[in-house]
Amino acid sequence: MSSKDRHAACDALIALCRPGFESECQGELLDAFGTFTGRPAKVERDSGRVRIDLPNLHAFETLDRGIRLSRLTFSRQLCFGFAEIRDLPERDRVTPLLEAARGATTPVSAILPEAADSADGRPLSGLARRLAAPLERAFLKANLLRPKRTALPRLHILFAAPGTAWLALSSPDNGSPWPMGIPRLKMPGAAPSRSTLKLAEAFMSLLGEDELAERLRPGQRAVDLGAAPGGWTWQLAQRGLRVTAIDNGPMADSVMATGMVDHLRADGFTWRPASPVDWLVCDMVEQPARVAALMADWVATGRCRQAIFNLKLPMKKRLDEVRRCRDLIDQRMRRDGLRYELRLRQLYHDREEITAYLAHSS
Ligand SMILES: C[S@@+](CC[C@H](N)C(=O)[O-])C[C@H]1O[C@@H](n2cnc3c(N)ncnc32)[C@H](O)[C@@H]1O
Repeated sequence: MSSKDRHAACDALIALCRPGFESECQGELLDAFGTFTGRPAKVERDSGRVRIDLPNLHAFETLDRGIRLSRLTFSRQLCFGFAEIRDLPERDRVTPLLEAARGATTPVSAILPEAADSADGRPLSGLARRLAAPLERAFLKANLLRPKRTALPRLHILFAAPGTAWLALSSPDNGSPWPMGIPRLKMPGAAPSRSTLKLAEAFMSLLGEDELAERLRPGQRAVDLGAAPGGWTWQLAQRGLRVTAIDNGPMADSVMATGMVDHLRADGFTWRPASPVDWLVCDMVEQPARVAALMADWVATGRCRQAIFNLKLPMKKRLDEVRRCRDLIDQRMRRDGLRYELRLRQLYHDREEITAYLAHSS
């Protein structure tokens, strides 16, 4: 950024989440952001969004350094609000949005018109999509959009109603690259279950592109605990990994036909490989703490280099359960004197659950 760049001072944290998980999303924002002590408003249940108004204005850079999306579990998108524009006229919403942005901040590297992924938000996301091209044209013409200066903040225009939009900023390395934090994935015709998309999204969301290319390579070995009917196994086989699939249930023929899979009917909690593998994945429907302890054991004992696993959350105290699993993994890794990376995220394809990535770190 050049010294001439002027970014709006912000007074709100805005996050998008799965509808129904607003309390968890707000709870972890307050945990992570305690020093700024925002005013926790009553969450709007099922709105798919959380807004915390801060008592003071803060420089965008300070907020951006203070809270990282990668450390949050329930936030899909995170940005820092600086204006609420009301009474946008139906015939021309672009001009007032442009003027409001021009008065507060300049310039940005991208414009992201967004809305929450909720029953109320869905019609607004259509509006956001329709406005994307006209907004881009207008901001380019006004010299407020500089797509080549990729380090500049991005401008989020979050529609809260057809005539109301919140303007907010995020830095490109601290916000989801996908509008609304939702990657659009196509269901591969040959996969045996839609849950294959969950693992595909986990690879994209929990690992960056470079990390993924470095850590997941054809020829590696993987174990899939609770594999049937085989959506996750198929995803691994498709990427050229040889997979040992553990499940008492049957695997789909299409998965076995890849020729990359050994299916063993065994208990995923007691079975262990004869030699270490590159990847462990686990989608067993079990108590989250039990799964977390099992994953920590595999990584701590070097049976796998890294693991991706799903934690099915209880109906109540879901944030407490996530904290408990995090502590449990931390204690196990510390006990063995190991440094580790743990990333937890409620993916778009996750329902009452979250997905985690755990690996040794050097
Ligand atoms: C949600 S499904 C897995 C779906 C799979 N990831 C896919 O993409 O097709 C959960 C699976 O875990 C298996 N399972 C549950 N407990 C298990 C255990 N103790 N050992 C092995 N498999 C188990 C079930 O049989 C079931 O097939």
